[in-house]
Amino acid sequence: MILQTPRLTLAPLAAGDAREIKPMLADAEVMAHWDYGAIDDPVTVEQLVSAQVEAMARDDAFYWAIRRIGDPALIGCIDVSDLDWRHRRAEVGFVLNRPFWGRGYAQEAMHAVIDHLAGLGLKRLTARTHVGNARCESLLQRLHFQEEGYLRGHVDREGERRDCKIYGLLL
Ligand SMILES: CC(C)(COP(=O)(O)OP(=O)(O)OC[C@H]1O[C@@H](n2cnc3c(N)ncnc32)[C@H](O)[C@@H]1OP(=O)(O)O)[C@@H](O)C(=O)NCCC(=O)NCCS
Repeated sequence: MILQTPRLTLAPLAAGDAREIKPMLADAEVMAHWDYGAIDDPVTVEQLVSAQVEAMARDDAFYWAIRRIGDPALIGCIDVSDLDWRHRRAEVGFVLNRPFWGRGYAQEAMHAVIDHLAGLGLKRLTARTHVGNARCESLLQRLHFQEEGYLRGHVDREGERRDCKIYGLLL
């Protein structure tokens, strides 16, 4: 379903979005706090996006491509995975292309996604951050997520063990 905000349109991710997602996932600064490093291989991004589109078709997840109203350029993505309808919970993630940081776009897009998920009957959202991802933590706090836990050495990023934090929001 397409979601609208005052400045943004969020459309379900399509295979053709991979072309615009490639430079974002190749940016080391954007990827600094992900479970894996920057992706330089375009085929890997195409496979990732295809897998996400297939997961959406199976109703296993939601992925939205974020664009500004009146501008066709993709500025970021939001994902909702680990959907558990028995317990009405899911995990959210978000990424913006770097030129679009610091303008409130992620916050605005997440408000629309949270409202949509609440409307579908979800009662709890979680988000996992790498320790040190200050922008992500600020965004989650603005969205009223609460810090719930600290996961020591949770991620193996190319041989480096990283700590993570879990944030939760009750809807
Ligand atoms: C996490 C991420 C999406 C946050 O982006 P962001 O631009 O900092 O977040 P927002 O869109 O909410 O914007 C907030 C900033 O915009 C500013 N802003 C400007 N205009 C605004 C407006 N109209 N409304 C709200 N905020 C506005 C705020 O003051 C704030 O600025 P600050 O960073 O100087 O404090 C971005 O840093 C990112 O893509 N990181 C890489 C991917 C990642 O690590 N994702 C998390 C994995 S879960």
